[in-house]
Amino acid sequence: MRRWIVALGLLVEFVVPSHAQETDSAADRGRRAMTETGFLKPAWSDAAFLRAGSLWKEGAPDPEEDRADYTRAFTHRYGLHPAPFENDGLPMGLKRGVLADGTKRGIQIDCLVCHGGSIGGTSYVGLGNTQLNLKALLNELTLADRRALPPSTFVLNSSRGTVNAGMVAAVLLSVRNTDLSFRYFPLPMGTNLPEMDVPPWWHMARKATMYYDGRTDARSVRSSMQFLLGEKTLEQFKDLEPTFRDILAYFKSLKPPPYPFAVDRARAERGRVVFKENCARCHGTYGPDGVYPNKIVELDVIGTDPARAHGLGLPLVKHYNATWFGEDYPVNEKMTGYQAPPLDGIWATAPYLHNGSVPTLAALLDSSQRPTRFKRPPSTGFEHYDTVNVGWKHEVVPEGPLPSSTTPFEASFIFDSSRFGLGNQGHTFGDALSDEERAAVIEYLKTL
Ligand code: HEC
Ligand code: HEC
Repeated sequence: MRRWIVALGLLVEFVVPSHAQETDSAADRGRRAMTETGFLKPAWSDAAFLRAGSLWKEGAPDPEEDRADYTRAFTHRYGLHPAPFENDGLPMGLKRGVLADGTKRGIQIDCLVCHGGSIGGTSYVGLGNTQLNLKALLNELTLADRRALPPSTFVLNSSRGTVNAGMVAAVLLSVRNTDLSFRYFPLPMGTNLPEMDVPPWWHMARKATMYYDGRTDARSVRSSMQFLLGEKTLEQFKDLEPTFRDILAYFKSLKPPPYPFAVDRARAERGRVVFKENCARCHGTYGPDGVYPNKIVELDVIGTDPARAHGLGLPLVKHYNATWFGEDYPVNEKMTGYQAPPLDGIWATAPYLHNGSVPTLAALLDSSQRPTRFKRPPSTGFEHYDTVNVGWKHEVVPEGPLPSSTTPFEASFIFDSSRFGLGNQGHTFGDALSDEERAAVIEYLKTL
């Protein structure tokens, strides 16, 4: 009898809570909070969204005549992606603003403007946005609202896809005192960060430390809330912390999409062996018993562009650590280099390295193949995907001035590795491999 009860108990445990989890787990609450909630007041009027098209030299569909067509054009223009959830008709990354009484008015950007991407026509929450032109989006919404542009004190993005999220956070924090009250004169932060590629959120399940330099404990809920520093008070941050704890649980539940094309299994198996010998000590092992070593590699060993690692100033770190943000998990004051990231879903996150300076895995593993300047694809559709080199098909742009016929819109697709922080050097661990070994490793990487 007892056995039966135990067996029944196990059965009930197996059936019921897994269903209950589906409807009300922390991850599920986090998903709803991330996709259904607007956290910020409106920054622009609803009309700004509809008027932005009137600023495009190339012309825009008439939003009054065909709203869907206009929204599609807007989405493509600024490098956004359709929302894979109900979003009041807005592309992913924009949200209706929320007033103090909870009513929705106007529009705002949210985390997904950078952390929402698409590949092969499917949008994913948590896939870094490699098409985004954030500067054009913010400026043109502001101009469409007939307001003057605020002065810019740093390069937000010199082209599409990379974005200077670090400087946004640094500037927002510089106008807060230690108790997070607002101050008029910014504190000196000694910080000069470059633009970066946006990491996928599905890495968070594996990481013990986060961000490219691995100086923040990945259990820090508060660090993910920095983006709200534009308006929230300390009390509001405290009230929102449980919500962001759920959001962190949601990040940890995310899985990368599987590689959608054919894989040569025999070659991938040969690649696994090469990977184990040459790469696993930093990037770990994969599959059910996979172990991620969470290794932060010294700058002189990794050799990639040092600007991000050096750019985070000690005054900023100390100030952050003195506020509520750094109270539970302070940022490590010591800079080492860059964290070797997990490679799960690596096929979907080209271009590579923390600054997105290398368009394909083939070029990452053979540093002689890296273009100084390249043109990103016009979309993340599979017609632009390169299954041999793995990553984006790209046009190499010769050095020297661009042809005078190049419009600013076209120029926005050009990635220039000679700019500050965007260097494509370093990580030469694939150079010594033979062509066949490299091809085998690439085949193996498709399976992660
Ligand atoms: C302007 C673009 C942008 C916005 C908006 C943004 N992020 Fe990020 N996020 C980034 C970039 C770039 C990085 C990498 C930063 C670094 O390591 O220096 C990052 C890193 C992260 C990481 C660490 C990932 C890892 O693997 O280490 C988390 C978690 C995260 N962001 C959460 C959020 C949340 C939550 C929001 C909204 C409240 C948000 N981000 C808003 C661009 C953005
Ligand atoms: C000594 C440690 C180390 C070794 C060995 C190493 N890597 Fe890396 N790898 C890193 C670090 C650190 C980064 C991040 C560098 C950066 O972004 O600046 C990185 C980045 C990468 C990336 C880009 C990740 C992304 O999301 O953009 C890929 C892909 C990669 N490595 C694959 C490999 C392969 C394949 C090998 C073996 C041939 C290898 N690595 C060997 C440390 C290492």
